[in-house]
Amino acid sequence: MSSSPFISNLQVLPLCLIFALCLFDAAITTTTMATSIDDEAKALHNSQWWNDISPVSNISNHCEWTEITCDANARIVQIDIFNTLNVGDKFGKMNFTAFPNLVYLRLVAIGLSGIIPSEIGMLSKLTHLDLSYNYLTGELPVHFSNLTQLVSLEIGHNSIDGVIPDQLIKSLKKLSILDLSDNNFNGSIPWSIGEMTNLTQLILNANSITGRLPSSLCNLTELEKLGVSENQVYGIIPSEIGMLSKLTHLDLSHNYLTGELPVCFSNVTQLVTLDMSNNHIDGVIPYQLKNLKKLSMLDLCYNNFSGSIPWSIGEMTNLTQLNLKANSISGKLPSSLCNLTDLESLRVSENQIGGLIPLEIENLKKLETLDLSRNNLIGSIPSTIGHLTKLKFLDLHRNQINGEIPTGLYFLSSLNLNYNNLTGNIDAELARVFNLDLSHNFLSGQIPVEFCHRSDISIIFLGNEELNNEISIFYSKCHTPSTPITTLGTSSSSTNFHPLKIILPITSLLVILFVAVLIVSRYKMKNKSKYEETVAMDGDMLSIWNYDGKIAFEDIIEATEDFDLRYCIGTGAYGSVYKAQLPSGKIVALKKLHRLESQDPSFDKSFRNEAKMLSEIRHRNIVKLHGFCLHKRCMFLVYEYMERGNLFYALSNDSDASELSWNKRVNIVKGIAHGLSYMHHDCTPTIIHRDITSNNILLNTELEAFISDFGTARFLDPNTSNQTLLVGTHGYIAPELAYTMVVTEKCDVYSFGVVALETMMGRHPGDLISHLSASSARNIMLKDILDQRLPLPSHQRIGTDVILVVTLALACLNSKPKSRPSMHQVAQELLFHRQSLANDFDKISIQQLMNQEAYPVTHTQ
Ligand SMILES: *[C@@H]1O[C@H](CO)[C@@H](O)[C@H](O)[C@H]1NC(C)=O
Ligand SMILES: *[C@@H]1O[C@H](CO)[C@@H](O)[C@H](O)[C@H]1NC(C)=O
Ligand SMILES: *[C@@H]1O[C@H](CO)[C@@H](O)[C@H](O)[C@H]1NC(C)=O
Ligand SMILES: *[C@@H]1O[C@H](CO)[C@@H](O)[C@H](O)[C@H]1NC(C)=O
Ligand SMILES: *[C@@H]1O[C@H](CO)[C@@H](O)[C@H](O)[C@H]1NC(C)=O
Ligand SMILES: *[C@@H]1O[C@H](CO)[C@@H](O)[C@H](O)[C@H]1NC(C)=O
Ligand SMILES: *[C@@H]1O[C@H](CO)[C@@H](O)[C@H](O)[C@H]1NC(C)=O
Ligand SMILES: *[C@@H]1O[C@H](CO)[C@@H](O)[C@H](O)[C@H]1NC(C)=O
Ligand SMILES: *[C@@H]1O[C@H](CO)[C@@H](O)[C@H](O)[C@H]1NC(C)=O
Ligand SMILES: *[C@@H]1O[C@H](CO)[C@@H](O)[C@H](O)[C@H]1NC(C)=O
Ligand SMILES: *[C@@H]1O[C@H](CO)[C@@H](O)[C@H](O)[C@H]1NC(C)=O
Repeated sequence: MSSSPFISNLQVLPLCLIFALCLFDAAITTTTMATSIDDEAKALHNSQWWNDISPVSNISNHCEWTEITCDANARIVQIDIFNTLNVGDKFGKMNFTAFPNLVYLRLVAIGLSGIIPSEIGMLSKLTHLDLSYNYLTGELPVHFSNLTQLVSLEIGHNSIDGVIPDQLIKSLKKLSILDLSDNNFNGSIPWSIGEMTNLTQLILNANSITGRLPSSLCNLTELEKLGVSENQVYGIIPSEIGMLSKLTHLDLSHNYLTGELPVCFSNVTQLVTLDMSNNHIDGVIPYQLKNLKKLSMLDLCYNNFSGSIPWSIGEMTNLTQLNLKANSISGKLPSSLCNLTDLESLRVSENQIGGLIPLEIENLKKLETLDLSRNNLIGSIPSTIGHLTKLKFLDLHRNQINGEIPTGLYFLSSLNLNYNNLTGNIDAELARVFNLDLSHNFLSGQIPVEFCHRSDISIIFLGNEELNNEISIFYSKCHTPSTPITTLGTSSSSTNFHPLKIILPITSLLVILFVAVLIVSRYKMKNKSKYEETVAMDGDMLSIWNYDGKIAFEDIIEATEDFDLRYCIGTGAYGSVYKAQLPSGKIVALKKLHRLESQDPSFDKSFRNEAKMLSEIRHRNIVKLHGFCLHKRCMFLVYEYMERGNLFYALSNDSDASELSWNKRVNIVKGIAHGLSYMHHDCTPTIIHRDITSNNILLNTELEAFISDFGTARFLDPNTSNQTLLVGTHGYIAPELAYTMVVTEKCDVYSFGVVALETMMGRHPGDLISHLSASSARNIMLKDILDQRLPLPSHQRIGTDVILVVTLALACLNSKPKSRPSMHQVAQELLFHRQSLANDFDKISIQQLMNQEAYPVTHTQ
């Protein structure tokens, strides 16, 4: 905007454009190309895709834009946009016929909606087409069968429907990658698929595909990845699959497949992952699977496998994850299992396995998850289990295990031993286990005082008859000062101590890493391999970053036991929030939409808004987004966990409120002001939050404020009127919104004013606001509105700050948007707190503060 009017004024642009192009043409002297280059520039400009980016890009040098690559003749050969524009319904505005030389077109996660323009079918040189993660609807254009040079076609994560066109398959002979996952394709997999003999990846996950798997698949001998999960495919698994000798990843999970697992699988020796979970497969687990020496992940859960676990499983030494949950497997756990020393996750729950837990389990040094729950295991827990220091999740509930709980399990984050026959005393160390369930056993003795900080002891120890009395008197032990309380691993001395405070300190190093990764992925988008790093192997998930390479979909599912209600810490307008501890020990908050909600387009949109918004902004007062998953099965955002919950909760809870000293409150208001100032003034385009409330301000252990919940936030596009439906929360919405429906930054300023006053008053200032315009405001004294749970500020500087905050808040509540200060002014004023009224609370009235000539910052000398 600050640059010359030449590029900022859209009206004069076409004229200037021609002028600039002429200069450019003369420079390169290839006059025969003149009109075409002209057309390309014009098509880019007319598309309006770059309108959100101000200043408007210099049209004559489009070859230098990050998203565009030209050849030596300045003809566009590549358009590559990944999550950097918001194109929306302007897909059709791009005149694709103007780019006859285009070979690479990637338009990922830029909000494309509507149908795919059929002109794309004219780009006869195209080799790569990727339209993933948009909102595209309708069927695949028939014209696509003209794209005979295509090597890679990726349209995953849209809402495309219809059958997989036979014609398309017959024409695209060169295709190597076909990804149609997470759409609404129906019908069956065409028999003609066998003609796409160059396919290396065929990804059809999460559609509505029915019918049987065609045996013509066996023709695809180059195939490395085959995914048909989450469809309605039925019938047996064709034994011809054994001929796909190059297959490394096979996912047929979540279908209705029946019959036995064909023995021929043992021929597919390159397999690294094999997922057959959630089908109706029966019979025994073939011992020949041992030939799959490279197999790292074997998932057969939720089927009807019977018989016992083959002894030969001990030969699949590359296994890191083995899941046999929810089958009809019987027999004992073979001790050969303990030869699988790379195993990180072992789940055999919900079967009929008897016998003992093998002592050799201690060989599985890399084990992080061990779930043997809901079986018929007997004997005691091997004491050596404490040697598995990587173990985070140990679940043995509902077995017949007896004996004592071994010592040294304090490093677990989840231990579930309910419904067993355990006896003996309770180890004080167990108080450190984040999710603990020892209910329905025969434990005895005393509950150690180390449990005082936990509010869940009645759940943890329920149904241990000898502890009943102990539970009822337990908390009285905690508060007697004569009982020495030895807290674990920290100097924290209050009974308020919470394990999170020690387990979780989020290392700033990793945060820096996060920012670095984000920067790399945002600004090196042209680098295809970088992109691939961010997309999980199964194509199920788009995560903007991989938290130290380790936040995986599975970790999240594991940590929350598939979003079990026990981990739910709140439900908001746009889904539920869960708390999860990852295998790394890090605690994160997950915001999840349930499937029903996520099918509602407005939820979906709000979710994507939030993901997009947060991935683009970084500020110390804005909650950090670690990653997200967009998938039909579940959609969630992964955030930094905020230990102290939201501001509303902190203010309404008396003990928290008294911990929120005036100093802390002023800092909270400063934090919100800085975050908002950044969104309004340092982001391009401007971001308006639109739902600033005390509910959406989160607090960390230091009681610093973080703005969250960007569900309704949107970019302030300078070219639109910003007329929208009324969103926001009653009691925080600026009055003008009720009649103008025009959203501006000043709406956030108003909501900020409400939250700032609320922070000082300790309650929503509804009554006060309604009095402000009336003459009765004259009689309201400042000291009477300040939170009565705190003594009036005694310190001079803090007193001054409190007065300043209230003064600014009142200015923000001005009913005329134009008279409100900007967030920048507010933030600056709070930063350089200037001398305001004398610090005499008895004498200051609200009227006086309102009379402070608009707001102080306008008087800068
Ligand atoms: C646009 O780009 C051309 C070529 O790079 C340059 O000569 C010209 O000064 C630029 N115009 C503006 C207004 O930046
Ligand atoms: C699209 O571009 C082609 C080739 O440059 C041109 O002939 C055609 O008129 C353009 N169409 C529109 C609608 O601008
Ligand atoms: C394919 O392209 C040819 C010319 O290149 C055109 O005549 C034909 O209509 C196109 N077919 C489809 C299905 O678009
Ligand atoms: C299949 O791929 C190979 C090498 O990748 C290539 O040489 C061959 O031409 C392709 N086949 C077709 C029909 O395009
Ligand atoms: C596929 O879905 C479309 C509408 O989405 C419907 O018209 C068509 O009948 C369906 N075809 C099959 C084979 O189910
Ligand atoms: C297998 O591929 C060949 C060409 O490589 C083709 O002629 C044949 O029809 C295909 N078979 C099936 C069952 O698709
Ligand atoms: C395994 O592969 C070999 C050669 O690759 C083939 O002869 C044999 O029939 C295959 N066995 C099965 C069960 O598919
Ligand atoms: C086992 O996995 C490792 C890496 O995970 C790989 O280097 C090794 O080759 C694999 N072993 C076999 C037999 O494939
Ligand atoms: C599972 O298999 C057993 C036989 O092994 C059979 O009796 C049972 O009905 C099957 N259950 C289901 C749900 O198919
Ligand atoms: C473990 O592996 C070794 C060598 O790989 C083998 O000799 C031994 O029998 C295996 N043990 C079990 C219990 O499978
Ligand atoms: C576990 O306790 C139950 C209930 O007291 C008892 O019926 C069962 O026999 C016990 N099992 C073992 C293995 O001790």
